[in-house]
Amino acid sequence: MAQPPPDVSEDECLPEYRHLFCPDLLWDKVAFIPGGGSGIGFRIAEIFMRHGCHTVIASRSLLRVSKAAGKLTAATGRRCLPLSLDVRALPAVAAAVDQALKEFGKIDILVNCAAGNFLCPASTLSFNAFKTVMDIDTLGTFNTSRVLYEKFFRDHGGVIVNITATLGTRGQVLQVHAGSAKAAVDAMTRHLAVEWGPQNIRVNSLAPGPISGTEGFRRLDWPLRGAAQGMCRRQKLVPLGLPL
Ligand code: HXC
Ligand code: NAP
Repeated sequence: MAQPPPDVSEDECLPEYRHLFCPDLLWDKVAFIPGGGSGIGFRIAEIFMRHGCHTVIASRSLLRVSKAAGKLTAATGRRCLPLSLDVRALPAVAAAVDQALKEFGKIDILVNCAAGNFLCPASTLSFNAFKTVMDIDTLGTFNTSRVLYEKFFRDHGGVIVNITATLGTRGQVLQVHAGSAKAAVDAMTRHLAVEWGPQNIRVNSLAPGPISGTEGFRRLDWPLRGAAQGMCRRQKLVPLGLPL
């Protein structure tokens, strides 16, 4: 079986790429990707750009997205605009969307990839910690979707892809905040899909399994998780040790 690539602290573009789809599948489309400066969002931006797309990648750290944009443009030859924004701050989201529209004249695709996570037992999770993850994942997804709807998608149609997770499907220890936030995003996806579908806006969720070499995977901290599951077993709590 193929071995996963070694873990790295900073994302790089693929040294080689064989197109899975027609190489010009996304030619001259524009994708807006909060969370596109690292991990899964970075790779989505790269694959989109390798299929002809221009991208806007946005996160709190302008340094991170600027470095990522340099790599993405060098590897693909397509344009990538790095912007600073916190998805929890509506004025920043609106300003970033305005700037992207000024630069490219349109946005075809929104990929909601920004998220926050850590392992913590529900019994010690602070109220603000739960709220923080809900704010980034759930409200952040609504903020960007709603702003883009108003500023462009309502009149031109578009595509929204929400990156979620399978944590909440069966329940998982130490993840009540992330599982709840992503489950809410899945529900939001279904609501927006039926409400905005008739306006030519396609809304979908994509829930990856654990992806090695990403911050999300690193934060799952396997020894701690194993210890917590052992504790559950001793207390005869079920379900036990569910795989991700
Ligand atoms: C318990 C924690 C905590 C931790 C923070 N908090 N880290 N509680 N364990 N490890 C608490 C704080 O004490 C505080 O509560 C509250 O959360 C807010 O913390 P801040 O540091 O002020 O928040 P902020 O600066 O907004 O940062 C958000 C963050 C941070 C989520 C806490 O880690 C972050 O920016 N993460 C982004 C990168 C990331 O997480 N990537 C992974 C995404 S992967 P109090 O009560 O003290 O005020 C993902 C995977 C899903 O989502 C599925 C995987 C299979
Ligand atoms: P990651 O590299 O940490 O990606 C999260 C990105 O979101 C970062 O670039 C971060 O940049 C940005 N971000 C965080 N908070 C933000 C905020 N308030 N406003 C704007 N941007 C913010 O982690 P990842 O593992 O690739 O995760 C990417 C997505 O995949 C997430 O939605 C995650 O839930 C999902 N997912 C991951 C896995 C996995 O195994 N990795 C599995 C299932 C689902 P800044 O810090 O610069 O803001």
